[in-house]
Amino acid sequence: MTSNRRQSKRCYVYVALPGQTQLVTAARFELANGIGRFVYGRSYLARKDAVEIDPVELKLGKGQFETAMLNGVFGALRDASPDYWGRLVIERAMGSVQLDEIDYLLQSADDRAGALAFGHNEKPPPPKRDFNKTLKLTELQQTALALLDEKKFARGAGAQQVEKLMLLGTSMGGARPKAVVEDRSGLWIAKFNKPQDKWNNARVEHAMLELARRCGITSAESKTVRVGDRDALLVKRFDRDKTRKGYLRARMVSALTLLRAEDTPESKRNWSYPALAEELRRVCAAPGDAARELFRRMCFNALISNTDDHPRNHAIIARDRAWQLSPAYDLTPAPTIGMERDLAMTVGDFGRRATAQNLLSQCRRFLLTYEEASAIVAEMQEIVRSEWYGVARAAKVTMRDCDKIRNALENEGFSFVAEAA
Ligand SMILES: Nc1ncnc2c1ncn2[C@@H]1O[C@H](COP(=O)(O)OP(=O)(O)OP(=O)(O)O)[C@@H](O)[C@H]1O
Ligand SMILES: [Mg+2]
Repeated sequence: MTSNRRQSKRCYVYVALPGQTQLVTAARFELANGIGRFVYGRSYLARKDAVEIDPVELKLGKGQFETAMLNGVFGALRDASPDYWGRLVIERAMGSVQLDEIDYLLQSADDRAGALAFGHNEKPPPPKRDFNKTLKLTELQQTALALLDEKKFARGAGAQQVEKLMLLGTSMGGARPKAVVEDRSGLWIAKFNKPQDKWNNARVEHAMLELARRCGITSAESKTVRVGDRDALLVKRFDRDKTRKGYLRARMVSALTLLRAEDTPESKRNWSYPALAEELRRVCAAPGDAARELFRRMCFNALISNTDDHPRNHAIIARDRAWQLSPAYDLTPAPTIGMERDLAMTVGDFGRRATAQNLLSQCRRFLLTYEEASAIVAEMQEIVRSEWYGVARAAKVTMRDCDKIRNALENEGFSFVAEAA
């Protein structure tokens, strides 16, 4: 192993403290043979305004934290690391170079979700100031869609292409092509429609975020914009607040981390809404509100057949010391052939089944009585039934696309009653 390679196994972890736009050095992270080691710096711990990186594994404290989970990458660091899309960008840019987890952390752009940043130097770099402007969307979309075509970027891209690729930003999670863009109001995530999409995803997701609001859920602000001959969805970043001095950053931790779970098939049995409700009750400043809001989100996902509701599609954020559920994001209906559908996470006594009976079966863990939970389910069912079409049409979803997603939203299986589990 070269010394260069050895060096790339360690990095410093920087954080933007509440109310501040500059980064400070918080900790050192080392990864060796699948074991991750994390130590908060002494001077960081001595600060009165020091905050924990996450409320589960990396609470503020002296000594070394160790993990063998997730190939040694602590959940909160993995949350700040690129996901399928960002990794694809980096891989296309770097060609066939073998990359490890620390490489991905260090290679990814500093517009990542949350308040963390990473680097080799003890002193943090100045915060990024230059973001893609919304005006660049056409070019970004072109690059993003070209990137999906393996042939166009096979065997590493040329220098000019790399430059273009890196403009996409690499560190926001998720699988869909996306880029971070800025306008006068702040930062947005642009999610691009793909040529092979079955319907206009941008408009449908925008409609679902609005429908969720009608159901009493706090969801991310969004809008659709025309980019070339397509639509893109712009979702306002809830982890960045624009100020005159730069951006304030909220810390952000996914539900995957809260559940101490992984993204592997074996770990899926730990993906559970009731368990997540209990974690929220433990870490959030307003535990009852968070648990009840999660109940609504679970119910909404069942009502719109959002079967891609995996734990990275839920998160908590902290703008100051206190943690709270983030606004809802990534809400997409998935029509199925049969009427029975399963969410990605356990719902209740009947596993992942998306039925009212299952939603109600463990409602107390969400701090709701059976009567309260039943009233919420009935109210939301009625709102989705009577309003989805109007909301979709107002979001300019075509009648044809409405027909394609109808089965997900007019979901008869929701009322099925099963024999006792
Ligand atoms: N409005 C937002 N503000 C800040 N971070 C966000 C916001 N929306 C999403 N994120 C972060 O970006 C990630 C990717 O976003 P999103 O889930 O919408 O993308 P996706 O590609 O559709 O995901 P998936 O792979 O689940 O389909 C999320 O997991 C979350 O960490
Ligand atoms: Mg997602």
